[in-house]
Amino acid sequence: MTPPPSPLIGCAAERIAALTPENPHWIGDRKPGLLVVGAGMMGREHMRVTQLLGWAEVRGMVDPFKGSVDWALSDWRLLTDQPLKVYDDLREAIQDSAVDGIVISTPNHTHHNILQTVCASGKPILLEKPMATNLADAEQIVRLAEAYPSFIQLGMQYRYKAQYVDALYELQSQSALGAVKTIAMSEYRPPFLDKVDQWNKFNRNSGGTLVEKCCHYFDLINVVAQSRPKRVYASGGRAVNFLDFEWQGQSSDIDDHAMVIIDYDNGVRASFTLNMFCQELYEELVVVGERGRLVASEHASFHPDIRSSARLQVEVPQHAAYQAVPVGYPDPIESSGHYGATFFEHIAFNRQLAGQTVDAATPQQALWSLIVASAAQHSMQRRREVDVAAYCEEQGLGDFYAAG
Ligand SMILES: NC(=O)c1ccc[n+]([C@@H]2O[C@H](COP(=O)([O-])OP(=O)(O)OC[C@H]3O[C@@H](n4cnc5c(N)ncnc54)[C@H](O)[C@@H]3O)[C@@H](O)[C@H]2O)c1
Repeated sequence: MTPPPSPLIGCAAERIAALTPENPHWIGDRKPGLLVVGAGMMGREHMRVTQLLGWAEVRGMVDPFKGSVDWALSDWRLLTDQPLKVYDDLREAIQDSAVDGIVISTPNHTHHNILQTVCASGKPILLEKPMATNLADAEQIVRLAEAYPSFIQLGMQYRYKAQYVDALYELQSQSALGAVKTIAMSEYRPPFLDKVDQWNKFNRNSGGTLVEKCCHYFDLINVVAQSRPKRVYASGGRAVNFLDFEWQGQSSDIDDHAMVIIDYDNGVRASFTLNMFCQELYEELVVVGERGRLVASEHASFHPDIRSSARLQVEVPQHAAYQAVPVGYPDPIESSGHYGATFFEHIAFNRQLAGQTVDAATPQQALWSLIVASAAQHSMQRRREVDVAAYCEEQGLGDFYAAG
């Protein structure tokens, strides 16, 4: 069955209850040491979350851009007075014996090359999403991971947002809806934020909007569908954002809205809607099965004075959440980044360091999310449906698809 099923480890409340202040998985007589490669917005979030969780220690970072290093150092000083090493050379950094795990949070188009260098360490890796900007590189990463002496965890941490943890718990552990029939996911949000060198305004750097941003949602849809995507049709394009945006003489070419339909081998039908010219953030997952409907939703904002809130509704007779109930994590965890999702991603990373099986995204699952995203982008360009098996064959992924 493809994508591989996710072993689920409890609902959000159980995960909170199971939290311990100390890492139960020390390496010898010390906490695991982490190296952060790429100290931009996400690199700083990984540092902040590592400190908040307290299970591991960030030992150092590598980033060629002084502005990012300075910003990360100043954030670090607010968190702790522990030393933080700034390495000039990635090869030297990964071999440091104080480093037990490596977080790669550089722009998407650099993942593939940086990963080749980092793999010389043989150490555990947390690689940000999307794993690569094209399917050929992504497939190589899957092969590399299969032969790698340690593990490579993928940064699809939306799985750990409280409303999706609880939704997946209801759908899979509790079978609350019976067999799932339809899945409708949507994201409404403001435009892409500023990034170092504006890398995210160009498809060649990001892999395209559906790859860059929406691999999270295709991963969630795949996990709910528990089957292999068969056909994809998408319509979308550029309507409002960055239409006149130029950077170093190049015009932005990224899409800002899309509607995608996915048929799965097992008969599940799914849709995904993206709109990136809204004021606030709203995400919704609606799943309907034989016994009823589940809705997991989140209102959020980039404005610090607007509180985020998430809800879960399970419209199944006698269910405690028949009327929507609020879900979430304690405030310090929610506010540490991505509404607590990154915090639980780090718990999973620490558990994997200790050799445990976790429900974090594997390289194979990450590739399945990119297959759907790429097929959708292909469909948008061609204005017709894409047969996923034929598309994978064309892209050199015939064996991977068939093995699925
Ligand atoms: N998981 C999530 O929810 C999530 C959210 C946002 C971003 N991301 C991902 O995180 C990654 C980084 O995004 P960001 O928002 O932090 O971007 P950013 O532009 O804020 O930061 C990227 C940093 O990487 C540095 N960098 C570039 N090339 C490098 C290299 N060769 N070695 C070391 N550092 C290098 C840049 O100087 C910059 O400081 C991207 O892959 C992005 O898709 C994931």
